[in-house]
Amino acid sequence: MAQKGRFITFEGIDGCGKSTQSRLMFKFLRDNAFPVLWTREPGGSDGAEQIRKLLVEGEPGRWSAETEMLLFNAARRDHLERTILPALERGETVICDRFADSTRVYQGATRQDLRATVDALHQLMIGVEPDLTFVIDMEPTAALSRGLERNSGEDRFEDFGLPFQEKLRAGFLALTQEFPDRCKLIDGSDTPAAVHADIRALLMPLLT
Ligand code: TMP
Repeated sequence: MAQKGRFITFEGIDGCGKSTQSRLMFKFLRDNAFPVLWTREPGGSDGAEQIRKLLVEGEPGRWSAETEMLLFNAARRDHLERTILPALERGETVICDRFADSTRVYQGATRQDLRATVDALHQLMIGVEPDLTFVIDMEPTAALSRGLERNSGEDRFEDFGLPFQEKLRAGFLALTQEFPDRCKLIDGSDTPAAVHADIRALLMPLLT
């Protein structure tokens, strides 16, 4: 792929503040005349938004980790083809709220160790990694109550409970060690403005 724009992702457990942070960064770049697109997973294209509803609504046990992995990859492939790659081709910075690292952790490292399968499927069907990933770290109790307070009707993963969120946190921290150049660990416990400043300091050298 002859990629012209930069691909930036935000990751972390449910309620960690990554959606707020990805939007703050999008607004900052847009207000400073950078060509930029904000998008999210699961979703970000018509077909992927339809698949999203299957994944985030309903009972926690609705899908096995394996079926989820396939659905997330189906959504991701559509999102990549229709939204992400065209924007990068136009030279835009793509800010994406979650991407393949979420599959590595949520499907690959929580209910059982499925990481090898996640990696094989990713290699086969997606094959794209972000240029930079911000992993927003947050204490799971606080993050979970924040996520559930929203009452969004999209709580299927929050409904797995606190031990699941603890495993997720450990999984995301492990990713920052596995990919230290790409995955930057951000302390999400500070004010949104302070967290935004930390992220900006790491991102702007890549864009200017
Ligand atoms: P969101 O709440 O950040 O929009 O994400 C929806 C849920 O989907 C969230 O609980 C994390 C989960 N998820 C996965 O389990 N695997 C994935 O690959 C992605 C992108 C999200």
